[in-house]
Amino acid sequence: MNTHLIFFSPTGTTKTILENIAKGIGKQIKIYDTTPAYSRITTTIKDGVAIFGVPVYAGRVPIVAAERIKNIKGDKTPAVAVVVYGNREYEDALVELKDLIEEAGFKVIAGGAFIGEHSYSSNEKPIAINRPDDNDKLAAFNFGKEITKKLAQNDLKTPNMKGNIPYKERIGIKGATPLTKFDICELCGTCSAVCPTDAITINNKVISDSEKCIMCCACIKKCPKEARYIATKATLERIEMLYKNCQIRKEPEIFI
Ligand SMILES: Cc1cc2nc3c(=O)[nH]c(=O)nc-3n(C[C@H](O)[C@H](O)[C@H](O)COP(=O)(O)O)c2cc1C
Repeated sequence: MNTHLIFFSPTGTTKTILENIAKGIGKQIKIYDTTPAYSRITTTIKDGVAIFGVPVYAGRVPIVAAERIKNIKGDKTPAVAVVVYGNREYEDALVELKDLIEEAGFKVIAGGAFIGEHSYSSNEKPIAINRPDDNDKLAAFNFGKEITKKLAQNDLKTPNMKGNIPYKERIGIKGATPLTKFDICELCGTCSAVCPTDAITINNKVISDSEKCIMCCACIKKCPKEARYIATKATLERIEMLYKNCQIRKEPEIFI
């Protein structure tokens, strides 16, 4: 029996949670990483259990994540929905992910909402910094154990999960993209390589396309020179709000 990990994870927190759930399940792991810009994974999973993970963007599943994971189909295969959010709220993302997975032919047997360092977090304005931490990883591991137990009992019931239908309306900050400090940037190309939407081109300088950018902040977090930064007024205001209002630690929630 394989444990299939299917995820979209620009800054890596979702991936870490899924890896720890898989450790708790303790079977052979197969990875389907839909994060790279040209990821076009199309397959059908018929054995074992499929764990789907996405970050929460404005209380929803990011559009690009929904588009990429929907090409991975099931054949009534047991599946688990996992969302990872930055200590604000996950709102309707978990039920939305559950619905997407079911439409793709899986049987959802469990769900979980975990916390990851907010994409907008920095040393100056930390928001859920360094999460998932050891406690979060243990919660993920124990969730894996629960999943194994449920499968062993042949219990394929879908539990109720927190969230509303219809889902909340999508909101986003249009036209925003991180910029580059050209005096520090060495044109190494890391930002371009880690961008999940191919929004960054290097051509004697770094060019960022705000139409393609989803503000995932992978380029900021992975730049070895710390040369990428946010300058958009609306995003800076959002960061200030999150920094002020989202400091009380939230804990993982499991639905099984
Ligand atoms: C555009 C955008 C919107 C976000 N919206 C939310 C949100 O509604 N609630 C929340 O708690 N965190 C939100 N976050 C934070 C991410 O869900 C969180 O940092 C997550 O751990 C990132 O996952 P990843 O490391 O797999 O990329 C948002 C992040 C971005 C980039």
